[in-house]
Amino acid sequence: MRAKNNTLVFLSGCALVLLAACKGPATGGSDGKDTAAAVAVTDTLNPKNFEAVINGKNTKLYTLTNKSGASVSITNYGGRVVSLMVPDKAGKLVDVVLGYDSVQTYQKKGEPYFGAIIGRYGNRIAKGKFTVGGKAYQADVNDGVNTLHGGRKGFFGQVFDAEQSGQTLNLTYTSPDGEGGYPGKLTVKVTYTLTDDNALKIEYTANTDKETIVNLTNHAYFNLNGAGDSTILNNTLMIAADGITPVDTTLIPTGKIQPVKGTPFDFTTAKAIGKDIGTTDEQLKNGKGYDHNFVLNKNDGSKPIAIASSPVTGITMEVYTVEPGLQFYSGNFLTGATHDGKGGKAYVLRSAFCLETQHFPDSPNQPAFPSTVLKPGQTYHTSSTYKFLNK
Ligand code: GLA
Repeated sequence: MRAKNNTLVFLSGCALVLLAACKGPATGGSDGKDTAAAVAVTDTLNPKNFEAVINGKNTKLYTLTNKSGASVSITNYGGRVVSLMVPDKAGKLVDVVLGYDSVQTYQKKGEPYFGAIIGRYGNRIAKGKFTVGGKAYQADVNDGVNTLHGGRKGFFGQVFDAEQSGQTLNLTYTSPDGEGGYPGKLTVKVTYTLTDDNALKIEYTANTDKETIVNLTNHAYFNLNGAGDSTILNNTLMIAADGITPVDTTLIPTGKIQPVKGTPFDFTTAKAIGKDIGTTDEQLKNGKGYDHNFVLNKNDGSKPIAIASSPVTGITMEVYTVEPGLQFYSGNFLTGATHDGKGGKAYVLRSAFCLETQHFPDSPNQPAFPSTVLKPGQTYHTSSTYKFLNK
């Protein structure tokens, strides 16, 4: 039924490399002409810093490396993508995701879900309330008046069982009935595969023993200049979506679909993320920038639904999925207040973007949106691929 099929592709590595393709410190105007490079590289990502016991379970760092040397490092704490090393136009490996050097830093209060598996429900549910199987439920409210990304017991803070086999990492987690306020014991499996053509594929399956709702995604923060100090305002982006689901001031969809044509939300042709972000627009105001669900045009998963690119490194990322929606978030809540990013970096405002494949936010309360209901006997399945090119 919910034959979801996200396909995300990423790349990564365990050591961060910094490229010094820069012209100076990263700056970030809103004109999209930011030419700063970033790319701090460090080779200091130390697997030992990910060895801990959390919730009574062991955490570790796992690294998948492909034949050309691209790599992704993932911890089973929240299933987080910690680094993703992909070749730039000169063939040097660049870390394109934000993250931390230790599992303890991922546990800090207010941590913005860096690289995490998001569940049970990606994005927001109005006031945390929903009805499924004829019963009303109250999910944990953790974002003002709403629930966001599964609430405080979300998968981002759970320890998965992990099994690596070559370039594949299998993560499993059983969420007990009632966890975070959601009904049903939910058995979840997430498989990360790094392919030899520099694609990170993430596959999700889930089963329940009680009628419930599910909406799984990954919350990687990308900067194709290289994770570091620069903003992403010069990264270009195409999203194959003719509409968005506009939101109120608490980022809950109004239920309408708004055409992007003639608005700052028109990414149907690639443009710099910074090009229109400073425009006076009610939706940009509500989101403090882009923080919206794009209603993807019909696609069968064979063509990219989004393409991002850095003029500095030449790295291009294609995103594939058959999910109906894509949350494009322009890092509006990053502040650069702390210097605890990998290699001591401060992740400043808009120093990364997220492209979260998903069903629409608040679907359980919006009958016109595609359903997120999962029943016993059904298997939830979706996948997303983030594929990297360097020409
Ligand atoms: C999602 C949300 C944003 C924000 C980030 C995390 O992308 O839509 O509003 O909460 O996660 O900070």
